[in-house]
Amino acid sequence: MNNDIKEILYSKEDIQAVAQKLGAQITADMKDKNPLVICVLKGAILFMADIVREIDTYCELDFMDVSSYGDATESSGEVKIIKDLDVSVKDRHILIVEDIIDTGRTLERLVELLKHRNAASVKICTLLDKPERRVKSVVPDYVGFEVPNEFVVGYGLDYIGHYRNLPYVGILKPEVYENN
Ligand code: PRP
Ligand code: MN
Ligand code: MG
Repeated sequence: MNNDIKEILYSKEDIQAVAQKLGAQITADMKDKNPLVICVLKGAILFMADIVREIDTYCELDFMDVSSYGDATESSGEVKIIKDLDVSVKDRHILIVEDIIDTGRTLERLVELLKHRNAASVKICTLLDKPERRVKSVVPDYVGFEVPNEFVVGYGLDYIGHYRNLPYVGILKPEVYENN
């Protein structure tokens, strides 16, 4: 599996350091707001686990599974809710945790939905941002790294379901997806 990676972009240590930095900012901004931290499954699971451990205030966690990519390498524009939240977002301060913002379609839909459900505020924390690819104008509040327009996998990010369990973010060798 590691052999399929052309180059490591962000090591486990790089990610740890950025999670600490963002966690401190989130703590300062959201202290006493009892935020509801929402993990966007499945890609955000690893980052969620790391970032919440850096948030030093009372918060609750919930999970939502939305999917726009299916097995293709580009988002389809159609965002399906596969698993909805367990709790109400009404009057709650929300922090959405994502692994990557690419076209912005997933988060645009999600933010719209949460506002429609009368969330008090909605903030976005993403490990990776790929602004070059943006189709919808989604602006994250907390960003780990701006990534170049390469096919990245690992630390939650998949290619046809694989590589999520890599502890780092790396660029997939083109021959891996060209042969498919
Ligand atoms: C990926 C990624 C983001 C979204 C970003 O999720 O984890 O959630 O796409 O793309 P966008 O900005 O173009 O919408 P995916 O739909 O592949 O589901 P997954 O998290 O289960 O892999
Ligand atoms: Mn995702
Ligand atoms: Mg995916």
